Amino acid sequence: MTAERRALLRDRVTQAYVDSYGEEPAMLVAAPGRVNLIGEHTDYNDGFVLPCAIDYETMVAIGPGSGSQVDVVACDFDSDRDSFDLTEPFAKQSAEWKNHVRGIAASLIDKGLSLLGANIAIGGNVPQGAGLSSSASLGVALAKAFTELSQPGALNETDLALTAQHSENHYVGCACGIMDQLVSARGLSGSALLIDCRSLDTKPVFIPDDLAIMVIHSGVQRGLVDSAYNERREQCEKAAAHYRVAALRDLTIEQLEAGRAGLDSLSYRRARHVVTENMRTLAAGEVLKDGDLSALSKLMAESHASMRDDFEITVPAIDRLVEIGAEYLGAAGGIRMTGGGFGGCVVAIAPKSRVTALEARVNEHYQTPDACHARFILCAPSGGVSVLS
Ligand code: GLA
Repeated sequence: MTAERRALLRDRVTQAYVDSYGEEPAMLVAAPGRVNLIGEHTDYNDGFVLPCAIDYETMVAIGPGSGSQVDVVACDFDSDRDSFDLTEPFAKQSAEWKNHVRGIAASLIDKGLSLLGANIAIGGNVPQGAGLSSSASLGVALAKAFTELSQPGALNETDLALTAQHSENHYVGCACGIMDQLVSARGLSGSALLIDCRSLDTKPVFIPDDLAIMVIHSGVQRGLVDSAYNERREQCEKAAAHYRVAALRDLTIEQLEAGRAGLDSLSYRRARHVVTENMRTLAAGEVLKDGDLSALSKLMAESHASMRDDFEITVPAIDRLVEIGAEYLGAAGGIRMTGGGFGGCVVAIAPKSRVTALEARVNEHYQTPDACHARFILCAPSGGVSVLS
Protein backbone atom coordinates (compact mmCIF):
# COMPACT_ATOMS: atom_id res chain seq x y z
CA MET A 1 0.00 0.00 0.00
CA THR A 2 2.73 2.44 1.00
CA ALA A 3 4.89 1.53 -2.01
CA GLU A 4 1.87 1.93 -4.24
CA ARG A 5 1.06 5.34 -2.77
CA ARG A 6 4.64 6.47 -3.28
CA ALA A 7 4.69 5.17 -6.87
CA LEU A 8 1.53 7.10 -7.72
CA LEU A 9 2.97 10.30 -6.28
CA ARG A 10 6.26 9.76 -8.05
CA ASP A 11 4.50 9.35 -11.41
CA ARG A 12 2.39 12.44 -10.83
CA VAL A 13 5.31 14.69 -9.86
CA THR A 14 7.64 13.37 -12.57
CA GLN A 15 4.94 13.85 -15.21
CA ALA A 16 4.31 17.43 -14.06
CA TYR A 17 8.05 18.11 -14.29
CA VAL A 18 8.32 16.64 -17.79
CA ASP A 19 5.21 18.52 -18.99
CA SER A 20 6.53 21.81 -17.62
CA TYR A 21 10.21 21.64 -18.55
CA GLY A 22 10.39 19.14 -21.42
CA GLU A 23 12.95 16.84 -19.78
CA GLU A 24 13.33 14.37 -16.90
CA PRO A 25 14.19 15.80 -13.45
CA ALA A 26 17.77 15.38 -12.18
CA MET A 27 16.50 14.20 -8.79
CA LEU A 28 13.44 13.33 -6.71
CA VAL A 29 13.35 14.08 -2.99
CA ALA A 30 10.66 12.91 -0.56
CA ALA A 31 10.02 14.07 3.03
CA PRO A 32 7.30 12.67 5.31
CA GLY A 33 4.55 14.27 7.36
CA ARG A 34 4.34 13.33 11.02
CA VAL A 35 1.98 12.43 13.80
CA ASN A 36 2.84 13.38 17.36
CA LEU A 37 2.15 10.57 19.84
CA ILE A 38 2.62 12.77 22.91
CA GLY A 39 4.39 16.00 23.94
CA GLU A 40 2.21 18.85 22.68
CA HIS A 41 3.29 22.49 22.74
CA THR A 42 6.43 21.45 24.55
CA ASP A 43 8.88 21.90 21.65
CA TYR A 44 9.06 25.69 21.79
CA ASN A 45 9.48 25.42 25.57
CA ASP A 46 12.74 23.50 24.98
CA GLY A 47 10.99 20.33 26.17
CA PHE A 48 10.37 16.77 24.97
CA VAL A 49 8.21 15.38 22.14
CA LEU A 50 7.53 11.88 20.82
CA PRO A 51 6.43 12.06 17.17
CA CYS A 52 6.87 9.59 14.34
CA ALA A 53 7.27 10.29 10.65
CA ILE A 54 4.44 8.74 8.61
CA ASP A 55 4.06 7.12 5.22
CA TYR A 56 2.42 10.20 3.71
CA GLU A 57 4.88 12.55 2.09
CA THR A 58 5.72 15.54 -0.06
CA MET A 59 7.82 14.97 -3.16
CA VAL A 60 9.97 17.47 -5.02
CA ALA A 61 11.33 16.88 -8.52
CA ILE A 62 14.25 19.20 -9.28
CA GLY A 63 16.69 19.91 -12.08
CA PRO A 64 19.00 22.77 -13.12
CA GLY A 65 17.25 25.94 -14.30
CA SER A 66 18.58 28.88 -16.22
CA GLY A 67 20.95 31.24 -14.38
CA SER A 68 19.62 32.24 -10.97
CA GLN A 69 15.99 31.71 -11.95
CA VAL A 70 13.72 29.31 -10.01
CA ASP A 71 10.59 28.03 -11.76
CA VAL A 72 8.06 26.00 -9.78
CA VAL A 73 4.88 24.10 -10.58
CA ALA A 74 2.56 22.88 -7.78
CA CYS A 75 0.66 19.72 -8.79
CA ASP A 76 -1.76 20.00 -5.86
CA PHE A 77 -2.80 23.58 -6.58
CA ASP A 78 -4.14 23.17 -10.14
CA SER A 79 -0.61 23.28 -11.53
CA ASP A 80 -0.25 26.84 -10.22
CA ARG A 81 3.19 28.24 -11.03
CA ASP A 82 5.72 30.60 -9.53
CA SER A 83 9.01 32.10 -10.75
CA PHE A 84 11.56 34.11 -8.85
CA ASP A 85 15.20 35.10 -9.03
CA LEU A 86 17.61 33.97 -6.32
CA THR A 87 19.43 37.31 -6.39
CA GLU A 88 16.24 39.24 -5.51
CA PRO A 89 15.17 39.67 -1.86
CA PHE A 90 12.30 37.52 -0.55
CA ALA A 91 8.93 38.97 -1.59
CA LYS A 92 5.82 37.69 0.22
CA GLN A 93 3.12 36.17 -2.02
CA SER A 94 -0.57 35.69 -1.31
CA ALA A 95 -0.47 31.95 -2.11
CA GLU A 96 1.10 30.32 0.92
CA TRP A 97 2.77 27.46 -0.97
CA LYS A 98 4.87 30.03 -2.86
CA ASN A 99 6.13 31.52 0.41
CA HIS A 100 7.33 28.08 1.45
CA VAL A 101 9.43 27.69 -1.70
CA ARG A 102 10.78 31.25 -1.67
CA GLY A 103 11.30 31.07 2.11
CA ILE A 104 13.39 27.90 1.87
CA ALA A 105 15.57 29.38 -0.86
CA ALA A 106 16.03 32.58 1.18
CA SER A 107 16.79 30.60 4.36
CA LEU A 108 19.46 28.50 2.62
CA ILE A 109 21.03 31.70 1.29
CA ASP A 110 20.84 33.20 4.83
CA LYS A 111 22.80 30.13 5.93
CA GLY A 112 25.54 30.93 3.43
CA LEU A 113 24.79 28.38 0.71
CA SER A 114 25.21 29.38 -2.95
CA LEU A 115 22.15 28.11 -4.71
CA LEU A 116 21.82 27.30 -8.39
CA GLY A 117 18.74 28.24 -10.38
CA ALA A 118 16.30 25.34 -10.57
CA ASN A 119 13.23 23.88 -12.21
CA ILE A 120 10.92 22.31 -9.64
CA ALA A 121 7.68 20.31 -9.52
CA ILE A 122 5.98 19.63 -6.17
CA GLY A 123 3.25 17.22 -5.13
CA GLY A 124 2.21 15.44 -1.96
CA ASN A 125 -0.22 13.07 -0.29
CA VAL A 126 -0.07 14.38 3.30
CA PRO A 127 -3.67 15.36 4.13
CA GLN A 128 -3.66 19.18 4.32
CA GLY A 129 -5.09 21.16 7.24
CA ALA A 130 -5.20 18.00 9.36
CA GLY A 131 -2.25 18.79 11.62
CA LEU A 132 -0.04 16.14 9.99
CA SER A 133 2.64 18.67 9.03
CA SER A 134 2.25 18.89 5.29
CA SER A 135 4.09 22.24 5.42
CA ALA A 136 7.04 20.89 7.39
CA SER A 137 7.38 18.00 4.93
CA LEU A 138 7.32 20.49 2.05
CA GLY A 139 9.97 22.64 3.72
CA VAL A 140 12.29 19.75 4.48
CA ALA A 141 11.91 18.22 0.99
CA LEU A 142 12.67 21.59 -0.63
CA ALA A 143 15.66 22.28 1.62
CA LYS A 144 17.13 18.90 0.72
CA ALA A 145 16.37 19.30 -3.01
CA PHE A 146 17.93 22.78 -3.31
CA THR A 147 20.96 21.68 -1.27
CA GLU A 148 21.60 18.46 -3.17
CA LEU A 149 21.30 20.26 -6.52
CA SER A 150 23.61 23.11 -5.54
CA GLN A 151 26.07 21.83 -2.90
CA PRO A 152 25.54 18.09 -2.36
CA GLY A 153 26.05 17.02 1.24
CA ALA A 154 26.43 20.61 2.51
CA LEU A 155 23.77 20.19 5.21
CA ASN A 156 23.01 17.29 7.53
CA GLU A 157 19.44 16.37 8.49
CA THR A 158 19.37 18.55 11.60
CA ASP A 159 20.52 21.59 9.60
CA LEU A 160 17.87 20.88 6.97
CA ALA A 161 15.24 20.86 9.74
CA LEU A 162 16.58 24.09 11.27
CA THR A 163 16.53 25.72 7.84
CA ALA A 164 12.92 24.67 7.28
CA GLN A 165 11.95 25.99 10.73
CA HIS A 166 13.77 29.28 10.02
CA SER A 167 11.77 29.62 6.81
CA GLU A 168 8.47 29.09 8.70
CA ASN A 169 9.46 31.52 11.46
CA HIS A 170 10.95 34.31 9.32
CA TYR A 171 9.32 34.07 5.91
CA VAL A 172 6.02 32.17 6.17
CA GLY A 173 5.13 33.80 9.51
CA CYS A 174 4.43 30.86 11.83
CA ALA A 175 6.27 30.81 15.18
CA CYS A 176 6.43 26.99 15.23
CA GLY A 177 8.93 24.92 17.20
CA ILE A 178 11.36 22.34 15.75
CA MET A 179 9.39 19.09 16.21
CA ASP A 180 7.73 18.76 12.79
CA GLN A 181 10.78 19.58 10.72
CA LEU A 182 13.16 17.50 12.82
CA VAL A 183 11.11 14.33 12.65
CA SER A 184 10.47 14.85 8.92
CA ALA A 185 14.24 15.07 8.43
CA ARG A 186 15.37 12.38 10.85
CA GLY A 187 12.46 9.93 11.20
CA LEU A 188 13.26 6.21 11.42
CA SER A 189 11.23 3.43 9.92
CA GLY A 190 9.41 1.40 12.61
CA SER A 191 10.13 3.90 15.38
CA ALA A 192 8.97 7.08 17.02
CA LEU A 193 11.62 9.66 17.96
CA LEU A 194 11.98 10.97 21.48
CA ILE A 195 13.34 14.44 20.82
CA ASP A 196 14.99 16.73 23.33
CA CYS A 197 14.05 20.05 21.75
CA ARG A 198 16.88 21.89 23.54
CA SER A 199 19.84 19.73 22.57
CA LEU A 200 18.09 18.33 19.46
CA ASP A 201 19.24 14.86 20.51
CA THR A 202 16.89 12.16 19.28
CA LYS A 203 16.37 8.68 20.63
CA PRO A 204 14.50 6.09 18.55
CA VAL A 205 11.65 4.40 20.39
CA PHE A 206 10.74 1.18 18.63
CA ILE A 207 7.01 0.75 18.04
CA PRO A 208 6.08 -2.93 18.47
CA ASP A 209 4.95 -4.50 15.17
CA ASP A 210 1.53 -5.52 16.41
CA LEU A 211 0.55 -1.93 17.17
CA ALA A 212 -1.36 0.29 14.77
CA ILE A 213 -1.13 4.07 14.67
CA MET A 214 -4.43 5.51 13.63
CA VAL A 215 -5.09 9.14 12.91
CA ILE A 216 -8.76 10.10 12.98
CA HIS A 217 -9.71 13.38 11.35
CA SER A 218 -12.53 15.10 13.23
CA GLY A 219 -13.62 16.95 10.10
CA VAL A 220 -13.22 20.22 12.04
CA GLN A 221 -10.93 22.43 9.97
CA ARG A 222 -8.31 24.05 12.11
CA GLY A 223 -9.24 27.73 12.47
CA LEU A 224 -7.42 30.78 13.91
CA VAL A 225 -4.48 28.47 14.31
CA ASP A 226 -1.64 30.94 13.97
CA SER A 227 -3.00 33.60 16.31
CA ALA A 228 -4.00 31.12 19.03
CA TYR A 229 -0.68 29.29 18.65
CA ASN A 230 1.36 32.46 18.96
CA GLU A 231 -0.74 33.50 21.96
CA ARG A 232 0.04 30.19 23.75
CA ARG A 233 3.69 30.70 23.01
CA GLU A 234 3.64 34.17 24.56
CA GLN A 235 1.79 32.88 27.63
CA CYS A 236 4.48 30.24 28.13
CA GLU A 237 7.22 32.84 27.81
CA LYS A 238 5.43 35.01 30.38
CA ALA A 239 5.23 32.09 32.81
CA ALA A 240 8.91 31.25 32.27
CA ALA A 241 9.82 34.87 33.02
CA HIS A 242 7.79 34.73 36.26
CA TYR A 243 9.76 31.68 37.40
CA ARG A 244 13.02 33.23 36.14
CA VAL A 245 13.90 30.21 34.00
CA ALA A 246 15.17 30.26 30.41
CA ALA A 247 12.26 28.05 29.32
CA LEU A 248 9.47 26.06 31.02
CA ARG A 249 11.57 22.97 30.38
CA ASP A 250 13.71 24.07 33.32
CA LEU A 251 10.85 23.97 35.81
CA THR A 252 10.13 20.95 38.01
CA ILE A 253 6.63 20.28 39.28
CA GLU A 254 7.80 21.18 42.79
CA GLN A 255 9.15 24.54 41.62
CA LEU A 256 5.95 25.16 39.67
CA GLU A 257 3.92 24.85 42.88
CA ALA A 258 6.38 26.53 45.24
CA GLY A 259 6.80 29.65 43.10
CA ARG A 260 3.18 30.09 42.15
CA ALA A 261 2.45 33.23 44.22
CA GLY A 262 1.98 36.30 42.05
CA LEU A 263 1.31 34.35 38.85
CA ASP A 264 -2.17 34.68 37.36
CA SER A 265 -4.13 31.46 37.19
CA LEU A 266 -4.23 31.27 33.38
CA SER A 267 -0.43 31.49 33.08
CA TYR A 268 -0.12 28.96 35.89
CA ARG A 269 -2.32 26.47 34.02
CA ARG A 270 -0.40 26.98 30.79
CA ALA A 271 2.85 26.30 32.65
CA ARG A 272 1.36 23.29 34.42
CA HIS A 273 0.46 21.76 31.06
CA VAL A 274 4.01 22.11 29.79
CA VAL A 275 5.68 20.83 32.95
CA THR A 276 3.41 17.80 33.29
CA GLU A 277 3.44 17.09 29.52
CA ASN A 278 7.24 16.90 29.58
CA MET A 279 7.03 14.32 32.38
CA ARG A 280 4.39 12.32 30.52
CA THR A 281 6.41 12.37 27.30
CA LEU A 282 9.53 10.98 28.94
CA ALA A 283 7.43 8.32 30.67
CA ALA A 284 5.65 7.46 27.40
CA GLY A 285 9.00 6.82 25.69
CA GLU A 286 9.73 4.17 28.33
CA VAL A 287 6.35 2.42 28.35
CA LEU A 288 5.97 2.39 24.56
CA LYS A 289 9.31 0.67 24.17
CA ASP A 290 8.14 -1.97 26.68
CA GLY A 291 4.77 -2.34 24.94
CA ASP A 292 2.96 -1.40 28.19
CA LEU A 293 -0.30 -0.23 26.62
CA SER A 294 -2.14 0.22 29.85
CA ALA A 295 0.43 2.75 31.09
CA LEU A 296 0.50 4.43 27.68
CA SER A 297 -3.28 4.65 27.67
CA LYS A 298 -3.24 6.48 31.00
CA LEU A 299 -0.51 8.92 29.91
CA MET A 300 -2.34 9.76 26.68
CA ALA A 301 -5.61 10.30 28.56
CA GLU A 302 -3.86 12.65 30.99
CA SER A 303 -2.22 14.47 28.09
CA HIS A 304 -5.59 15.03 26.47
CA ALA A 305 -7.17 16.28 29.71
CA SER A 306 -4.27 18.69 30.18
CA MET A 307 -4.63 20.05 26.63
CA ARG A 308 -8.37 20.43 27.20
CA ASP A 309 -8.37 21.96 30.70
CA ASP A 310 -4.99 23.63 31.22
CA PHE A 311 -3.79 24.55 27.75
CA GLU A 312 -7.29 24.94 26.26
CA ILE A 313 -6.48 23.92 22.71
CA THR A 314 -9.11 21.23 22.08
CA VAL A 315 -12.63 21.73 20.69
CA PRO A 316 -15.80 19.82 21.71
CA ALA A 317 -15.82 17.60 18.59
CA ILE A 318 -12.24 16.49 19.32
CA ASP A 319 -13.06 15.84 22.99
CA ARG A 320 -16.02 13.73 21.89
CA LEU A 321 -13.91 11.68 19.48
CA VAL A 322 -11.36 10.99 22.19
CA GLU A 323 -14.11 10.01 24.62
CA ILE A 324 -15.64 7.53 22.14
CA GLY A 325 -12.27 6.01 21.33
CA ALA A 326 -11.21 5.79 24.98
CA GLU A 327 -14.50 4.14 25.96
CA TYR A 328 -13.86 1.37 23.44
CA LEU A 329 -10.11 0.96 23.95
CA GLY A 330 -9.97 1.18 27.73
CA ALA A 331 -6.49 0.14 28.89
CA ALA A 332 -5.84 -1.69 25.60
CA GLY A 333 -4.72 1.43 23.78
CA GLY A 334 -4.18 5.18 23.97
CA ILE A 335 -5.96 8.07 22.30
CA ARG A 336 -5.54 11.86 22.42
CA MET A 337 -5.68 14.97 20.29
CA THR A 338 -2.52 15.43 18.23
CA GLY A 339 -0.87 18.53 16.76
CA GLY A 340 -1.30 22.23 17.35
CA GLY A 341 -4.99 22.01 18.30
CA PHE A 342 -8.27 23.84 17.56
CA GLY A 343 -9.63 21.05 15.35
CA GLY A 344 -7.78 18.58 13.18
CA CYS A 345 -7.01 15.05 14.32
CA VAL A 346 -6.75 12.63 17.20
CA VAL A 347 -4.18 9.83 17.30
CA ALA A 348 -4.81 6.36 18.66
CA ILE A 349 -2.28 3.59 19.31
CA ALA A 350 -3.72 0.14 19.78
CA PRO A 351 -3.25 -3.49 18.72
CA LYS A 352 -3.83 -3.91 14.99
CA SER A 353 -6.59 -6.38 15.81
CA ARG A 354 -8.69 -3.51 17.21
CA VAL A 355 -8.61 -1.16 14.24
CA THR A 356 -11.79 -2.36 12.56
CA ALA A 357 -13.87 -2.30 15.72
CA LEU A 358 -12.56 1.14 16.70
CA GLU A 359 -13.53 2.49 13.31
CA ALA A 360 -17.00 0.94 13.59
CA ARG A 361 -17.46 2.39 17.06
CA VAL A 362 -16.43 5.88 15.95
CA ASN A 363 -18.69 5.69 12.89
CA GLU A 364 -21.59 4.66 15.09
CA HIS A 365 -21.22 7.51 17.58
CA TYR A 366 -19.45 10.38 15.80
CA GLN A 367 -20.33 12.62 12.90
CA THR A 368 -18.22 15.39 11.40
CA PRO A 369 -19.73 18.92 11.33
CA ASP A 370 -21.03 18.22 7.81
CA ALA A 371 -22.67 14.98 8.92
CA CYS A 372 -20.14 12.53 7.48
CA HIS A 373 -18.04 9.77 8.98
CA ALA A 374 -14.66 10.77 10.40
CA ARG A 375 -11.73 9.98 8.11
CA PHE A 376 -9.39 7.21 9.33
CA ILE A 377 -5.77 7.43 8.27
CA LEU A 378 -3.73 4.37 9.17
CA CYS A 379 -0.06 5.38 9.43
CA ALA A 380 3.17 3.38 9.42
CA PRO A 381 6.17 4.87 11.27
CA SER A 382 8.53 5.83 8.48
CA GLY A 383 11.99 7.10 7.63
CA GLY A 384 12.90 10.76 7.19
CA VAL A 385 13.82 12.80 4.11
CA SER A 386 15.55 10.94 1.27
CA VAL A 387 16.71 11.29 -2.30
CA LEU A 388 14.90 8.60 -4.30
CA SER A 389 16.96 6.39 -6.53
C1 GLA B 1 2.58 22.62 15.55
C2 GLA B 1 3.99 23.22 15.51
C3 GLA B 1 4.96 22.37 16.34
C4 GLA B 1 4.41 22.08 17.73
C5 GLA B 1 2.96 21.59 17.67
C6 GLA B 1 2.32 21.47 19.02
O1 GLA B 1 2.58 21.40 14.88
O2 GLA B 1 4.45 23.31 14.19
O3 GLA B 1 6.21 23.02 16.39
O4 GLA B 1 4.54 23.21 18.56
O5 GLA B 1 2.14 22.45 16.89
O6 GLA B 1 2.91 20.45 19.74
